Amino acid sequence: MTATPARAVIDLDVTGPTISRHLYGHFAEHLGRCIYGGFWVGEDSPIPNEGGIRLDVVEALRALRIPNLRWPGGCFADEYHWRDGVGPRDQRPQMVNTHWGDVVENNHFGTHEFMALCELLGADPYISGNVGSGTVREMSEWVEYLTRDGESPMANLRRENGRDEPWRVPFWGLGNEPWGCGGNLRAEAYADLARQYATYCRDQSGNTLYRIAAGASDDDYAWTEALMKTISCLSCGNEPRNYFQGVSFHYYTVPGPWARKGSATEFDTDAYYTTMVKARKVEEIIRGHAAVMDVYDPQKTVGLVLDEWGTWWDVEPGTHPGFLYQQNTLRDALVASVHFDAFHRHADRLAMANIAQTVNVLQAMILTDPDSGALVLTPTYHVFAMNAGHHDAASLAVHLYAPDARREVGITSLETLSISASTKGETALVSVTNLDAEEPAAVVLDLRGRSVTGHSARILTAAKLQDHNTATEPDTVAVRDHDGVRPDDGAFGHGLRIELPPHSYATVELTLAD
Ligand code: AHR
Repeated sequence: MTATPARAVIDLDVTGPTISRHLYGHFAEHLGRCIYGGFWVGEDSPIPNEGGIRLDVVEALRALRIPNLRWPGGCFADEYHWRDGVGPRDQRPQMVNTHWGDVVENNHFGTHEFMALCELLGADPYISGNVGSGTVREMSEWVEYLTRDGESPMANLRRENGRDEPWRVPFWGLGNEPWGCGGNLRAEAYADLARQYATYCRDQSGNTLYRIAAGASDDDYAWTEALMKTISCLSCGNEPRNYFQGVSFHYYTVPGPWARKGSATEFDTDAYYTTMVKARKVEEIIRGHAAVMDVYDPQKTVGLVLDEWGTWWDVEPGTHPGFLYQQNTLRDALVASVHFDAFHRHADRLAMANIAQTVNVLQAMILTDPDSGALVLTPTYHVFAMNAGHHDAASLAVHLYAPDARREVGITSLETLSISASTKGETALVSVTNLDAEEPAAVVLDLRGRSVTGHSARILTAAKLQDHNTATEPDTVAVRDHDGVRPDDGAFGHGLRIELPPHSYATVELTLAD
């Protein structure tokens, strides 16, 4: 037990920037069993589906209020040619998915299937266009195909393929990882291409695109600077040129070297703490990119977009090395909860984030069995569900005093308590994580500014860090009501004391009066 309970001061009446629901975004790539077997089973499947799309997956993601879905990649985006994925399915050309397993892609899941999926999910589409091996014309025509009303060559082609009305497409990616799989470009060369491609991704028929330039890996702040420089316009009253509206970066929690990332389920406490150091580093990296952006865009008109994040472990034994299928334990859930706390604190600049990936790949929400088709919700899924109250809520600053909540991990002092809060109307939501693998923790919320008339709490934990859910044991890591929250008016006038077991994450919903 920590010597003194930690104290978290929250001014419930002093609200900060809105936490966009898009910080809870998702990512689905043509990679392994994410699309085929994950989202898509085809119309003839015995698995209940609508037009080939799995309905159990749709139902699970609707329950999370999934705000957006990024597709078709990832690295796949820069070798995807959208025309191959429209028209009658049996006439679509095949291609080789060279990045992911060198398998043949039949293009049965294409533009119409993706847009139908988004409609079923109630999610905004985020389409990643092909810069690496595509053309400006190809990307421009895809935008026209999707969004143009009235008479036009691409709108007419869309109609021939069975869709009369244009779709609404709010988010558009200008390539992916151009420093690597997206073309091995240098930052300045890509920055010019981003301007060029963005120019021909037109807003049409009332659809307004939020164009996202493909950004840095990890802490490559020079990449962000190259992109920001290319749109900066000091003579325009510090307002950047409006070629693209967002700049992305990717950050994966990979504690070991790439060649030996470690098992998703078999790890020791040292590996757990090393993982948490890497996970908490995301905040330093967000801050670094945001600081560069502040120089060129002090009014914060350009959004920072973390469109790939999550844990990346060795693939499960016996699975295809190119399919990136991994299990998901309580450790992954805690990685997610501390990421969200960091996201909430940077809601002024961070406009979107997309976990990689939604189904059957990397840090998935959902795993499906390739033989039985059974669906499993992972511990990470439950974090998204428990945090859904933060969507579009006003962030609240949390001043945490927790001098004893630390672990020395190599040369790093890991803070083992993580907390964030938001408010919407007559409620507030506090998320709090105890990363300590062995010790429980207590946090007293010192609540000021508004009266708290009620509370309820939920908790996610398990006997072991390695615990995970399977088709036969789907609830080993499950959400439970938490009765470890008590009034603590003695110390600070208006307090709530939260007891947290080791390696746990809890949410406390407060009912507020003025
Ligand atoms: O999410 C898997 C891969 O990781 C993506 O395709 C790529 O963008 C990143 O390197």
